[in-house]
Amino acid sequence: MTPDAADIEMAAATLRAGGLVAMPTETVYGLAADATNDRAVARIYEAKGRPSFNPLIVHVADLAMARRFAEFSPLAERLAAQFWPGPLTLVMNRRAESGVSHLVTAGLDTIALRAPAHPVSRALLAALGRPLAAPSANPSGTVSPTTAAHVRDGLGGRVDVILDGGRCVVGLESTIVRVDGDRAVLLRPGGLAREDIERATGAPLVAAAPGAVEAPGMLASHYAPHARLRLDAKRPLLGEAFLAFGPSSGDHPHTLNLSESGDLVEAAANLFAHLRALDAMCDQHGLAGMAAAPIPATGLGEAINDRLARAAAPR
Ligand code: TXA
Ligand code: MG
Repeated sequence: MTPDAADIEMAAATLRAGGLVAMPTETVYGLAADATNDRAVARIYEAKGRPSFNPLIVHVADLAMARRFAEFSPLAERLAAQFWPGPLTLVMNRRAESGVSHLVTAGLDTIALRAPAHPVSRALLAALGRPLAAPSANPSGTVSPTTAAHVRDGLGGRVDVILDGGRCVVGLESTIVRVDGDRAVLLRPGGLAREDIERATGAPLVAAAPGAVEAPGMLASHYAPHARLRLDAKRPLLGEAFLAFGPSSGDHPHTLNLSESGDLVEAAANLFAHLRALDAMCDQHGLAGMAAAPIPATGLGEAINDRLARAAAPR
């Protein structure tokens, strides 16, 4: 199941030729194209059915590659050194002649960079020697994929190669931080907890000004399941599927637990797969909708609550 050296070389050749490769990262699966190839990047938007050209995250092998594309302040250097490879995306001022397609950055003067930790994406980046633009590998607006099967269900024939790297261990998209000199602004909560970043910087993260940043991941309705979702539910109503958290209270049918032991890391890893499975249960059993238990707001709970709120938003 794990891709071998020949699979990686074949995927790299596909990317060099302008193709699309779905690759596992530790956060979610990404739909990757050569970030220096405008036509290849345009195919990402087409495959996802993205309504507009929103900026994409550029994946790099390491800090040395990243420095070719952005101007790192001392604070950005420190964050990258501490958390890369890993679930942290840094938005920085882009270098003018970096070679990255302007379609990737949607014409902005900034660029979002991340070095993923998954061995398969690392091997692919090393084999290719170029940066990879990659949004989550799902049709626009739907729940992000955390297994190769999720990618196949959502994008199937629209991807040239799907690399199966198993289940994503983090399960939530990366945390996005805008670093502007010595200011760090939280643009999207994600797989790296705010507390870990604040411990490293020694200062609280600045909140993003509402409406200041064009971030499609920040659209109110996103990560949307088919069934409607009710939040902060102590227990499900009759005819609802239930997303539980913590020691089970009672015996409800159609329930999946994010973490029986109340572990937020385990809950993050299970979130998207459980939302998909409960959504399918609603279809299959003709249920009225789903309800989700309250989740603590600390650590990865901030990002879990963010994704649940978007999944529940009216659309
Ligand atoms: O974990 C992840 O981040 C996954 C994996 C595949 O790496 N990728 C991901 O990409 O979630 P996507 O395209 O679904 O989300 C990218 C987010 C969007 O909200 C986008 O607006 C923001 O990054 N973004 C990209 N470039 C930006 C920029 N220059 N300024 C502000 N936001 C930016
Ligand atoms: Mg996405």
